[in-house]
Amino acid sequence: MSTAGKVIKCMAAVAWEPNKPVVIEEIEVAPPQADEVRIKIVATSVCHSDLYHLLEAMNKDGFPTVLGHEGAGIVESVGAGVTEFQPGDKVIPIFLSNCRECRFCKSPRTNQCEIAWTRIRQCVMAAVETRFTCKGKKVLQFMGTSTFSEYTVVHKVAVAKIDPAAPLDKVCLLGCGICTGYGAAVNTAKVEPGSTCAVFGLGAVGLAAVMGCKAAGAKRIIAVDINSEKEEKAKVFGATDFVNPKDHSEPIHEVIAAMTNGGVDFSLECVGNVGVMRSALESSMPAWGVSVIVGWTELHDIAIQPLHLICGRTWKGSLFGGFKSKDGVPEMVKAYMDKKLMVDEFITHNMTLDQVNDAIELMKQCKCIRAVMSVSPE
Ligand code: APR
Ligand code: ZN
Repeated sequence: MSTAGKVIKCMAAVAWEPNKPVVIEEIEVAPPQADEVRIKIVATSVCHSDLYHLLEAMNKDGFPTVLGHEGAGIVESVGAGVTEFQPGDKVIPIFLSNCRECRFCKSPRTNQCEIAWTRIRQCVMAAVETRFTCKGKKVLQFMGTSTFSEYTVVHKVAVAKIDPAAPLDKVCLLGCGICTGYGAAVNTAKVEPGSTCAVFGLGAVGLAAVMGCKAAGAKRIIAVDINSEKEEKAKVFGATDFVNPKDHSEPIHEVIAAMTNGGVDFSLECVGNVGVMRSALESSMPAWGVSVIVGWTELHDIAIQPLHLICGRTWKGSLFGGFKSKDGVPEMVKAYMDKKLMVDEFITHNMTLDQVNDAIELMKQCKCIRAVMSVSPE
């Protein structure tokens, strides 16, 4: 029996308030309105940004919400005016929209999209309203996606159609972390063949940045993490060296400068810590180093000496790896299907949505790279 046009009752992980476990609840998911797509989520994983919102940012206005922005699913129904998607299409919802029409989408200089940016920050989807209710209350849609739910509704500008043969329990990771790190190296830093790189933070984002540096032809990739257990995994993705700042008495940028005759050509910060952002900048070659901020934080300002830039460095930021999402995500899925991109290697745990609090705990304690939860059967 078709569910199109009807309210769907389904299970979702509702975050009622900051710093509390999320609760598996029955929610109501309204039908998609004009320009919207309702998606059955098949698989999703926890990214550090979900934790950041739940545990650290503490923005009370952002609750109750359904977290999750790294997921993949199948179109269940579409609203009026949607021609790009049909029920049955395999898709990845994306927190960074790509309307293809605004001045940002038309510019090759950015992957930002004017339409959704403000909406994402309000924790609703691109179309102002949330389509979720639970126990009579409106429930927000975190980052406009809310993939910790059996069904979600996303604006058509924030959905990418992917290869129908793609395994959703793997490619769900291309909804955030892998594209973010890989693209930061390839698209934003524009790592050059034969160059020297340093990647700070070896979660999924940093490991993907290591993979991006390798794909771009870097000859030396120094992986940096305060957890030495990450060394082995970093080498799988192409790191040539590993440094744990805790093993050294001098500052990490001095260690890296000594290893590289003055500094790396490219450095990437994949932690979300302003102290590490400064270290990453200072680890790059003063005369020409490019340093990219990938990790997210809104809690602190960064301090640096202007001379650290005046000498010739470039400091950049990267969101979603610089990919314009509607094109970039299907291209990354294709690269995976063509065996040119590692994805399976990021998955350390396979779980189900009702184990979401365990998955969150694993991420909080840095005990996983990615825990993929199956949500609905394909
Ligand atoms: N120096 C080096 N590495 C550090 C430091 C530090 N001072 N502090 C933490 N780390 C390491 C952790 O040990 C961990 O391996 O950074 C890694 C972070 O990995 P995850 O928590 O798994 O995070 P991830 O999902 O990869 O996201 C990283 O990117 O998109 C953003 O919001 C996201 O800010 C987050 C960042
Ligand atoms: Zn746009």
